[in-house]
Amino acid sequence: MAAENAPENVRIRDFSWRTDREQVLSFQYEIYETNFPGCTVDRSFIRDYSLNLRDATRNPDERLIVLEEDGRIVGFLWLSLMSTLVDLCVGYIKNIYVAPHLRGRGYGANLLAVADEWFRSNGASKATLDASVGNERAVGLYLRDGYEVTRYRMEKQYKWP
Ligand SMILES: CC(C)(COP(=O)(O)OP(=O)(O)OC[C@H]1O[C@@H](n2cnc3c(N)ncnc32)[C@H](O)[C@@H]1OP(=O)(O)O)[C@@H](O)C(=O)NCCC(=O)NCCS
Repeated sequence: MAAENAPENVRIRDFSWRTDREQVLSFQYEIYETNFPGCTVDRSFIRDYSLNLRDATRNPDERLIVLEEDGRIVGFLWLSLMSTLVDLCVGYIKNIYVAPHLRGRGYGANLLAVADEWFRSNGASKATLDASVGNERAVGLYLRDGYEVTRYRMEKQYKWP
């Protein structure tokens, strides 16, 4: 797949666990440590994530996509189909990443368009995701793409002496 309005050396394609996983795993440090302040991505986290990636490649309700620039993996998208209390089939974006040097050029939006296409073609009634309030770039991207806030997850901090 060519990414829309992207230069020729950038393309979107399906993930290969054998050739792409190391690069995709390297993205998880930034993703988890910035979206979940206090989270430390360690070796056991990476090992579990790697196994989850492998399982996803074997699951028809999951799809893994990468963004490639000159043969190097520079972005990642993890999609899932699921049912909820009220919906038979909804699309869920489990993870999205674009390498820092390519941000702000529409690749995140390109990946969301791939998600829409796959969700729709599998009969999903809607696309859903979770985002951290502090991740303004991601939230801005989702709002611009048509996502709406439908639930709040609320927290109250306890002060310990
Ligand atoms: C969130 C993330 C995927 C966005 O990727 P991206 O490629 O920068 O996304 P886009 O370029 O499509 O959109 C980002 C912004 O650039 C703007 N933009 C898009 N195309 C543009 C262009 N050609 N020129 C200038 N700006 C552009 C968009 O309007 C958007 O602005 P907004 O945030 O004010 O809405 C990326 O920042 C990322 O990987 N972050 C780290 C991982 C992460 O936190 N993932 C989300 C977990 S919930």
